Amino acid sequence: MFYHVKDLQFNARVSAPDPRFANLLLQQFGGPNGELKAAMQYFVQAFGAKEPYPDKYDLLMDIATEEFSHLEIVGATIQMLLAGVNGKLKDAADEAEIMKIMGGKAAKENVIHEAMSNPHFLIESGGGPILTDSRGIPWSGTYVNANGDLTVDLRSNMGAESRAKIVYEYLMKFTDDPYVKESLRFLMTREIAHFQMFEAALQTIQPNFPPGVLQGDPRHSNTYFNMSNGTAVRGPWNEGVSPELGEVWRYIDDPIAHVAATNGLLNQEIEGTRRDEKSVQELNQALSKQRSKEVIAATPDGENQWSTYSSGDDPGADIDAPDRDPDQETGKTGRRSTPGESAKGKSTSKKGK
Ligand SMILES: [Fe+2]
Repeated sequence: MFYHVKDLQFNARVSAPDPRFANLLLQQFGGPNGELKAAMQYFVQAFGAKEPYPDKYDLLMDIATEEFSHLEIVGATIQMLLAGVNGKLKDAADEAEIMKIMGGKAAKENVIHEAMSNPHFLIESGGGPILTDSRGIPWSGTYVNANGDLTVDLRSNMGAESRAKIVYEYLMKFTDDPYVKESLRFLMTREIAHFQMFEAALQTIQPNFPPGVLQGDPRHSNTYFNMSNGTAVRGPWNEGVSPELGEVWRYIDDPIAHVAATNGLLNQEIEGTRRDEKSVQELNQALSKQRSKEVIAATPDGENQWSTYSSGDDPGADIDAPDRDPDQETGKTGRRSTPGESAKGKSTSKKGK
């Protein structure tokens, strides 16, 4: 369940209303790399993680909840940047009022211009945040990447945090308000923190490359095709050893001739790697079994219960209450975890039967 605390996570302030920047800031409210996208992405990913990987469930839900807190900060800031506009819009009978607050006719025309580029903003919301980006494109569930595999999802999340970070960086260039800058800097910094949390979580899953379960065909995992004419550029992406699999890059200088000579790559030889078809199939089998076992072992047949409660029949159960004893902090998965339990990625949840 969610528990709303009336205070913001960060003390968001503005020096003065600024409807133009309020419109730009919508990018992080209802935009493709904004706070709602991040919150929903981690929230949706968390469900599938809960039984087999309660430690990752805890991480995803904590960060999703923090992203909701950031959405609240962005929404509150947009609202404060529109201070006056909202109230004056309500004064439908007096057109002069909105002109006064906007600083005269020219400024009013400015607002009308803004409304042209994002028609919903101001006109439909009556001077409050709305779930669109700064151009008025509605928020969409298609912004959310959740693929049911932590080695994929955690990488998606590192990408999401990178994009959110750079958007804040760009936004900071468009405001001179030191208070707004201060909030944006906080939000930008949290993206840096979250990136590292997802990266650290990915490292606890071994092996985590390639993403998913199935290994790549050893004939094709280390070939680089020189797909253009002119000067060939060489770097660690096509010479030396590949960073994840440690295979020697094979530089195919003339891909057209190579494709023809290998019967469309079907006769491509394995080179520069210790992997062969046998080891690949063995690893596929072993990893498939391991991942499948982890999920099956954590998922009971028949009756199931998502949460356990302190008043239930589990004497070890505990729920997180705002006034909890910090010495009894739990893995937030329903009952108190034993030391090191959640770090190992083992199930800390218990079924209430
Ligand atoms: Fe974030």
